[in-house]
Amino acid sequence: MLRLRDVRKVYEGKARVVALDGVTLDIGAGEMIAVMGPSGSGKSTLLNLMGGLDVPTSGALLVAGEDLATKGEEARSLFRRTHVSYVFQAYHLMPTLTAAQNVELPLHLAGRPAAEARERAAKTLSEVGLAARTTHLPDELSGGERQRVAIARALVTGAPLLLADEPTGNLDTARGEEILALLKSIHAGRGTTIVMVTHDAHAAAACERVVTFRDGRVVEDRRG
Ligand SMILES: Nc1ncnc2c1ncn2[C@@H]1O[C@H](COP(=O)(O)OP(=O)(O)OP(=O)(O)O)[C@@H](O)[C@H]1O
Ligand SMILES: [Mg+2]
Repeated sequence: MLRLRDVRKVYEGKARVVALDGVTLDIGAGEMIAVMGPSGSGKSTLLNLMGGLDVPTSGALLVAGEDLATKGEEARSLFRRTHVSYVFQAYHLMPTLTAAQNVELPLHLAGRPAAEARERAAKTLSEVGLAARTTHLPDELSGGERQRVAIARALVTGAPLLLADEPTGNLDTARGEEILALLKSIHAGRGTTIVMVTHDAHAAAACERVVTFRDGRVVEDRRG
């Protein structure tokens, strides 16, 4: 599913930062892996490249058979809409849209008919246990519920790759556990490939494989 060869990402700003310093990594279809490492070690940068949000400075990057390193902005944006879904620590829901409307949004953007979008959103919200909250606005939901809406929004398009950047980072232990269990059941039930950045060793232990970064390099790759 993902194939990285000697991937480097250098940010040329006020100060030059080597965020990824030669990363070689293969992730198979249907794997669920945790990415760990200290702050600034390049984890979010890695996810942004995998999701086609940014391109590497050098190296090869294949995701679902597509060469993302050489694709232009427009081609990557199309790739994102069809292949990848993102879940963030801070949920990133649209505040003026209900839970159902937030989940429908990617389907509208993909040009699906409104009736189909409504039906699929309702089904996906019930899959994440939120059938009773579809008309709530994000600020009428708890943190754990907001993250469930974000996960439903990520799932609704049926994308084969789910990238999660600290999905339990804003939640207490019990709520974090629930989100983790939900991601695991999605992985088991749908066969979605999941790459999850986490600072939590307990969350990482829930994954089949843990890749640890330091200073933009893979320093450990452990299968449990
Ligand atoms: N857009 C950018 N421009 C310049 N430097 C950046 C940019 N984004 C990230 N960096 C730098 O690249 C390095 C890696 O950042 P990244 O966000 O990937 O770290 P991280 O491992 O996700 O950290 P955290 O655990 O704190 O989220 C950091 O030193 C950061 O300051
Ligand atoms: Mg980060």
